[in-house]
Formats: sequence, structure tokens, C-alpha cells
Amino acid sequence: MSNYNRRRFLKAGGALLAAGTLPISLVELAFGKDRKQNFTFAYVSDSHITHVRGKQFVRNWDRGLIRAVAETNLLDPKPDFIFYGGDIAQLGKPEEIDHGLEILSGLHGDVHYVMGEHDYYLDLGEHWRKRLGPDHYSFNHKGVHFVVLNSILTFDDWMYDKWSSGEERMGQMARLDNPQGSPFMVGEQQRAWLKKDLDAVSKDTPVVVFSHSPLQKIYQGWNFWTDDAEQVQALLKPFDKVTVLYGHVHQIQYNQIDNISFHAAMATAWPWPYPSSYRQQAAHVPKLTVDMNRADPFFERDATGWQFINLDTGNVDVSYVLPDNSNRVVAWSDAAGHPVDTRYQAEADRIPPQTHY
Ligand SMILES: [Fe+2]
Ligand SMILES: [Fe+2]
Repeated sequence: MSNYNRRRFLKAGGALLAAGTLPISLVELAFGKDRKQNFTFAYVSDSHITHVRGKQFVRNWDRGLIRAVAETNLLDPKPDFIFYGGDIAQLGKPEEIDHGLEILSGLHGDVHYVMGEHDYYLDLGEHWRKRLGPDHYSFNHKGVHFVVLNSILTFDDWMYDKWSSGEERMGQMARLDNPQGSPFMVGEQQRAWLKKDLDAVSKDTPVVVFSHSPLQKIYQGWNFWTDDAEQVQALLKPFDKVTVLYGHVHQIQYNQIDNISFHAAMATAWPWPYPSSYRQQAAHVPKLTVDMNRADPFFERDATGWQFINLDTGNVDVSYVLPDNSNRVVAWSDAAGHPVDTRYQAEADRIPPQTHY
């Protein structure tokens, strides 16, 4: 992390201390019951590495991932592991996955991966699995049960019968607002696996689930959506504390549905538009946070970022590192009973978009 960014972290830490939700600074992060078990992990997502030809890749997306790797390696204390939230590739090409993994191999520490739709729909995940292994599994770390799910599957007939080539299938799934698209889902097989996996976990164990698409329904037109979200949520319902961390939406979102907190990750590649017309509506539609100032076309990292995670008392606080933007922290609030944006700005206080001449 540059000194510049470190200063910003410490500043954010001061603000949090005032709010009473975190220890003295963001470099002293805590987990739960036993302070010996305190730990952090970093979360990097959605690099969309794009192959041009030969050994040539779109530079800007490479740069976003390279920067996230460099800054993650400078975190102090060192995160216990790194999680990668999916969409390494743009069009699922082996060259893209390999190039992304080559950049990610610079990370110091273990990396866990979830599959994104851009990694999947060219060859139905064959190359990804060859490089990274199973697409769903669980592990325990210092008293927390972590589950990795592949949430971007869809109906068999859409996957297998509808398209003349993998390229065509990938091209369809890579678009927003596409009437030819198909909703994402975890699917029956993985849900059966998840049920069995969770049966063996005591209900007071904090559970953290990683998916690529949100395991909640935000906006179907853009596939900010998982079709069997409610069925997955039902399996998670018996637990005291559950957090779902997802990529895919390339923006800050948070929500609370019953016992489950939801947090989204920023992309290292580019920002999606916000589904603003859906913002702050009731019932299962997340109350989205303040739109970032992202109107700077001269800044290649505008509205991109990465995040590190604090598991404090088993709930998750997400610190978003936003190059040349105000860093943000979405933290659990006991008083509110859901995550809150600790740096919420009333509309009148927001910095207006930049003007360029
Ligand atoms: Fe993505
Ligand atoms: Fe995605």
C-alpha cells in the first residue's frame, strides 16, 4: 500500500473508532470470542482480463489486478488468506484465465477462488477447474465455517442445447439487458451438497459464504440475481450469524435478510452502472449505498477497487479500497441489526462530479 493510501486507511480507522465499531485502526482487526483468533482476509474480484491477440491483453484491466495484488501484499497485518470473487477472464479464454492467474500468483498467501460467469460459459468451466480444482467446497478457519459455491449455473437446456458454439454462449451471457440470457442459479445438486455440509456445523458457528452472483435478488435484467436464492437462504437460516460475500456487481452493495448479511465487492476492472431505479425499495431489494463520484473519464481506475474484511464478533465489516476516491467501510451495527455504511454522506454533503475542460 502506498503511504498515501495507508494514510487514508488510518483516517478511516479513526472515523470507525469514533463510531465504536472497530479497534483503533484498520490495521488491528479482530475476530470474535477469543482474541487469539483474530484474523483478516483480503478480497479481490472481477478482473475481466481480456485477450487481444498473441501475448497482448487489454492493459487497463491488467493494471487494475496488478495494483490490487501489490497493495494486498503490503497489508499489515498480513491477511490470513485472499479470496478471489470470480470473473478472472472476460470471455473465458484459457489465455485470459492463465494470464490472470499469473498476475494473481504474485499474491503472498493462499488464495481461494469462486467461479464467475465470464470464467464459465465458454467451456463450461473446464479450463478453470483444470487450473483451480473444484468449484464448490467448504473449509474451517479459526472458528468460522467458510463455504464456496458456484452460483452462476443455469438451466441445462440453455447451457447445452441452445448455442452453436461456446463462444456464442459466452457472448450471450456476457451482456447486460439481454433477453436471450438466462438467470443464474446454484442448482439442486449443490444445494443438496450444501445441506449435508451445513448439517455437520453447529448453529452458533459463524458461517461465511462466497458466491459470484448475489445470493439475493437485486435486478434480474442485469443478472444481479440468483434464481434459487431463497432456497439457499433457507439452508442458511438456522445459523446465528451468516454472511454472504459476492462479486459480479462491481459496486458497493449491502443488505440484511433475516440472519444473513450481504456484502458485494468492487471490481478491479470497471464499474457497472448502479441499478438506481431499484434503490432503497422495500423487501429483498438492498438499500444501496451512496453512488460514488465516478464521473472522471481521465482516471483509469475510477470507481474500481478491492477490499479487506474484518470478522469482528463473527459479523463481517468490509473496507473498500478505492483508488483516488474516499475509502469506504460497511460495518455491522448491533444497534441497527444490519450492516451500515459508516461513511454515509447525505446528498447535500456529497462532492459533485469532476468537471474537465
Ligand atoms: Fe464481473
Ligand atoms: Fe460476473
